Amino acid sequence: MARILITSAIPYINGIKHLGNLIGSQLPADLYARYQRGRGNEVMFLCATDEHGTPAELAAAKAGKPVSEYCAEMYEVQANIANRFGLSFDHFGRSSSDQNKKLTQHFAGKLDDAGLIREVTEKQVYSNADGRFLPDRYIEGTCPNCGYERARGDQCENCTKQLDPTDLIEPRSAISGSTDLEVRETKHLYLRQSAMKDQLDAWIDSKSDWPILTTSIAKKWLHDGDGLQDRGITRDLDWGVPVKKGDQDWPGMEGKVFYVWFDAPIEYIACAKEWADANGKADAEWERWWRTDKGADDVRYVQFMGKDNVPFHTLSFPATILGSGEPWKLVDHLKSFNYLNYDGGQFSTSQGRGVFMDQALEILPADYWRWWLLSHAPESSDSEFTWENFQQSVNKDLADVLGNFVSRITKFCRSKFGEAVPEGGAYGKRENALIEELTRRVRAYEGHMEAMEVRKSAQELRAIWVAGNEYLQAAAPWSMFKEDPDQAAAQVRLGLNLIRLYAVLSAPFIPETSARMLSAMNTLDTSWPDDVAAGLSALPAGHAFTVPDVLFAKVTDEQREDWQTRFAGTRD
Ligand code: MF3
Ligand code: ZN
Repeated sequence: MARILITSAIPYINGIKHLGNLIGSQLPADLYARYQRGRGNEVMFLCATDEHGTPAELAAAKAGKPVSEYCAEMYEVQANIANRFGLSFDHFGRSSSDQNKKLTQHFAGKLDDAGLIREVTEKQVYSNADGRFLPDRYIEGTCPNCGYERARGDQCENCTKQLDPTDLIEPRSAISGSTDLEVRETKHLYLRQSAMKDQLDAWIDSKSDWPILTTSIAKKWLHDGDGLQDRGITRDLDWGVPVKKGDQDWPGMEGKVFYVWFDAPIEYIACAKEWADANGKADAEWERWWRTDKGADDVRYVQFMGKDNVPFHTLSFPATILGSGEPWKLVDHLKSFNYLNYDGGQFSTSQGRGVFMDQALEILPADYWRWWLLSHAPESSDSEFTWENFQQSVNKDLADVLGNFVSRITKFCRSKFGEAVPEGGAYGKRENALIEELTRRVRAYEGHMEAMEVRKSAQELRAIWVAGNEYLQAAAPWSMFKEDPDQAAAQVRLGLNLIRLYAVLSAPFIPETSARMLSAMNTLDTSWPDDVAAGLSALPAGHAFTVPDVLFAKVTDEQREDWQTRFAGTRD
């Protein structure tokens, strides 16, 4: 039994995620976790909310709530939606947890001990009215280049010129609008990534099986321009992990917090401790996933994320881990995704454009979305959600192919043989040919799933469903029944067993439906078909079953048009 540690990039706390976020990390990570569990492997699947940073502070301010209260509420909301989408995390943690606070401070201390932290004095804009330093993007003013009046301190959105806050004409706080700003000196900690360049370079080189997309991004950051830059890991904010060296105060760093991108990936580790603590388990239980000196050397660690997250996972987080000098587990395989677009444009959280997770579940159950999203995952390039495509995919793949197969065979059996697997007859040439085809396809499916080729896995699964349909069409037990009821019985027996087989194979994609299929087949046998022929005789003659309700309803043209209009604008 292999041991597999899986993490999904942890979603920002501010607001409910859209379907583009979902397919970018959490959903494919869940697919992989469910598949590995289905194969009998030991899985630890972790995710959490990413709660620190200015966006969380501002969202809380907008909601008129203290930030800790806002985060606690949004955590519950996100956990609930994740659950309804069938995301099977072993633990869904919070980056603001005590466990993460301690571990983040611990890492900072170790990095400092190793001489990898330096202090830098910087000039930064302070807002007297807001009583705080302002990050560049929270300073607005007129662009010196094009005259655009709402240019941000880091960049002008209108002419794309990169700016410094001090370049802006009539700068003001984006939070309060106040122009009572001044430049103050402030001290920050920098992680000396430049000193770890060779170590990181060698580590990346050792990953010969990583996709070129991933390694090329890492290599670019390592070598372009002046090479890997040191990185500021502290901020002048109230909300975050207080800067400490282990449990000691850090002189000169009072009132500062770690940068959100420093503590967020550490939450991958802290989350495992949260899991242990929440379940009354000893530290050894989570450490065997994360400490190579405590059993994690035989763990395979896989990370899932959107492409914009790749630099942080290939360089910054490994720099934290390697720099600590402690035996923490490093990522073995990193699966990254391109973007999913929405109906001719982009999904956008800030503009509320597209379909958000809560809205999706208001109109259809999770499995409809899971199937569409996974079978159209933006792997080799960006992909696009359109309502036409969604309708087509649901109606063809789910309703016509899988749903129809299940309904036809169960109803036919009920009408001719009753609600039990019929007896008599034997598998012949046609059945053996089907078993051969399925054996080949199941092996291909396993290969794609192991390789995390999401779209190819979906295609193969669909082909497995189609093979059953075609068999049924060709065997036609409804005509056979008149000539040779025994032969028809054998065909129906195979068909009913196929339902169980499909439930097992499809569970990673459509877990709810899979459970319904198993319950209709009245079986708890979810064993993986290592041997397809044996898997197709799991339900013996005489085994009782029930005809399930329709598995998937077709999306009508009227619904499609209705949803198209409803989601054409932006959410309020
Ligand atoms: N919250 C970030 C995003 O959505 C991802 C953080 S992943 C972690 O882009 F590694 F930092 F945890
Ligand atoms: Zn401009």
